Amino acid sequence: MNTADDRSTPAPPSTVVIFGASGDLTCRKLVPALHTLRCQGLLPPATRLLGVARSPLSDQELRDRLFDGVQAYSRADPDVCNTWADFSKQLTYLAGEYDDSATYKRLAEELDAFDTGQGTQGNRLFYLATPPPLYPVIVEQLGRAGLNRSARGWTRIVIEKPFGHSLDSARQLNERVQRVFAEEQIHRIDHYLGKETVQNILAFRFANTVFEPLWNARHVDHVQITVAEEQGVGHRAGYYDRAGVLRDVFQNHLLQLLALIAMEPPAAFEPTALRDEKAKALQALARCTQSVRGQYLGYREESGVAPDSHTPTYAALRLEIDNARWKGVPFYLRSGKALAARTSEISVHFGRPLYPAFPAPGGERAPNVLSLCLQPHEGIRLRFQAKQPGAGLRIRPVDMGFAYQTYFGAATLPDAYERLLLDVMQGDPSLFARADEIELAWGLVDQVLAQWEGPSAPSFVQYEPGSWGPKEAERLLAQESRRWHLGCERDAT
Ligand code: BG6
Repeated sequence: MNTADDRSTPAPPSTVVIFGASGDLTCRKLVPALHTLRCQGLLPPATRLLGVARSPLSDQELRDRLFDGVQAYSRADPDVCNTWADFSKQLTYLAGEYDDSATYKRLAEELDAFDTGQGTQGNRLFYLATPPPLYPVIVEQLGRAGLNRSARGWTRIVIEKPFGHSLDSARQLNERVQRVFAEEQIHRIDHYLGKETVQNILAFRFANTVFEPLWNARHVDHVQITVAEEQGVGHRAGYYDRAGVLRDVFQNHLLQLLALIAMEPPAAFEPTALRDEKAKALQALARCTQSVRGQYLGYREESGVAPDSHTPTYAALRLEIDNARWKGVPFYLRSGKALAARTSEISVHFGRPLYPAFPAPGGERAPNVLSLCLQPHEGIRLRFQAKQPGAGLRIRPVDMGFAYQTYFGAATLPDAYERLLLDVMQGDPSLFARADEIELAWGLVDQVLAQWEGPSAPSFVQYEPGSWGPKEAERLLAQESRRWHLGCERDAT
């Protein structure tokens, strides 16, 4: 994994080939991130960008379209950093069909020309930002054209999520990609792993001595992971209505968060050891026996959604991890669209105090809760009990907090794509999911989906947009005398 020093080392020059160059992801995320890296001096001027897509566009038309994206989404203001004129000269377009070998012949010629004439040193990064059914087509064509490795320099490939639609399809995709590229060339992206606050889970756990001794079933009562979204499905219904919330965010983001919370310390902070430990945590997941599924009212009226759709836009799962550290500790995971607020957080609830002497409001002995606030109020909060001022000895919960903004300033949090693109170019795959992690996560998701098809399926419920989801999700915790907790709602100070 990169150290802080590596982060200030520029990437080596390369050609970044984006398949799906006329799409939303390229415009909103990839090129704005590359532009910011360039502004920060982390992307050398010799870097070439080659967009590939089917639309008939000129180089200039693509540049204009992407400039709109840079203006709207890049963290670096193009007027201030003033590199767009040079950067965009390095950006060209190749129109072609993804399944046509002629496209790849022209691509190979262009790459050779860049390598010899423009100093890209034979380094090539292929980024698949197309609809997923095209992934195997493109990978196989790259292989046939001999573009899976270059005569000199490195060749790497980034594959966007969703990686498969089920365990079987993910396995097949892994096999097809691995027939052409070696595992160390393959980068399956999960943008949650590029978020600073998500990486900070590892720093928090393993660079401090205070919490790790408590990080186990003896002291932790349960863990909650919430990824709540305020927006509905928006313009992505075509994809979403076939995927649903489990495939869309549980298979990747939520289970990756769970793995980072639950994993054992890696023997070293390097890609293999880190991913081995995450995979072991996922492997220890027990069958999920309790879950809730729901759909927000109005979803079926969204454009592109089937009028009788039963696609869940909300799910809550109760999971257990069958290993010595976590035996008996429930992990409650929930995510949904059209909820009351956008917030992603993990809360670790410690056991209730044994000592009953202090009178607390409502007579409830509140536990200590550690909230890792991933977004939007990035930080960490610890809830503990304090004596209320005045006569007597009454206690109430108070918060101790760390806010990124206070310590590091608002501008320091890079976009996840900046970090991940830089890591690929620098040859660090730590923050990308390995084939086994992907398949283990699909195993769990498939199991829940199968259960939802069977006789013990939880009822399919609808919830009000702007609420916190179905009442059944409250009951899932209430039956064990717990409730959902949001500890990050205010800025941690
Ligand atoms: C994506 C999902 O992977 O993550 C989207 O496909 C979801 O449906 C998004 O909205 C959430 O990401 P973030 O970074 O906004 O929390």
